[in-house]
Amino acid sequence: MQFNIITLFPNMFSAISDEGVIARAIKKSIISIKTWQLRDFSDNQYKNVDDKPYGGGAGMVMQVKPIRDCLSEIKQDSPNTKVIYLSPQGRKLNQQLVEELSVLDSITFLCGRYEGIDERVIENDIDMEVSIGDYVISGGELAAMVLIDAIGRRLSGVLGNESSLKDSFVNNLLDHPHYTRPEVVDGQRVPEVLLSGHQAKIDDWRQAQSIEKTKLKRPDLLDD
Ligand SMILES: C[S@@+](CC[C@H](N)C(=O)[O-])C[C@H]1O[C@@H](n2cnc3c(N)ncnc32)[C@H](O)[C@@H]1O
Repeated sequence: MQFNIITLFPNMFSAISDEGVIARAIKKSIISIKTWQLRDFSDNQYKNVDDKPYGGGAGMVMQVKPIRDCLSEIKQDSPNTKVIYLSPQGRKLNQQLVEELSVLDSITFLCGRYEGIDERVIENDIDMEVSIGDYVISGGELAAMVLIDAIGRRLSGVLGNESSLKDSFVNNLLDHPHYTRPEVVDGQRVPEVLLSGHQAKIDDWRQAQSIEKTKLKRPDLLDD
């Protein structure tokens, strides 16, 4: 899976490309991440890519031309890349959307800053807007990293086993509880069944726990 990222802050992506699951996936060549500094597509000596909003008001708006020029360069190599603008106004991210995106070969993330981007880019150049939730953050970079991590861990070979298939939200259930050594901590015991060595009983218990946890914490998932 190839990720292109259009951003004013490419260094932020070292948070996922230098350490952890995504860094390992890059080393294994399962994922590639290429950042595109939008300022390289500015047409002025100050490298500006934003301007004041028509109609007045607070903040600055990212201009059409640098974004369009950057996208057209990206598309020379990746003509079928899906262009996603990270936006609080987009489709809200959930596991279903992660699954849909994880079958693609190439995604280009456009990270907004300031008041956001000129509406004409949204009308003409974007395939999809995605939001990470009903709140506003300062830029699309963190949102893009959330998506890359969520998509990346679903790609074959990234986790080394199929553990992501048992994660919360797969099959509309929350994950079952997990325990590790020691057996007793401050009087709290690991459930007996997990020590039984009887795998079928353990699987049944985990499934029942998943359902109970979902009923308790996220009953809305069971409606789906
Ligand atoms: C300060 S926000 C602009 C918010 C915009 N004025 C609005 O209210 O819809 C700057 C950038 O952060 C990103 N962003 C903010 N909240 C987000 C969210 N919930 N999901 C994804 N991206 C978000 C977008 O790329 C956005 O262009």
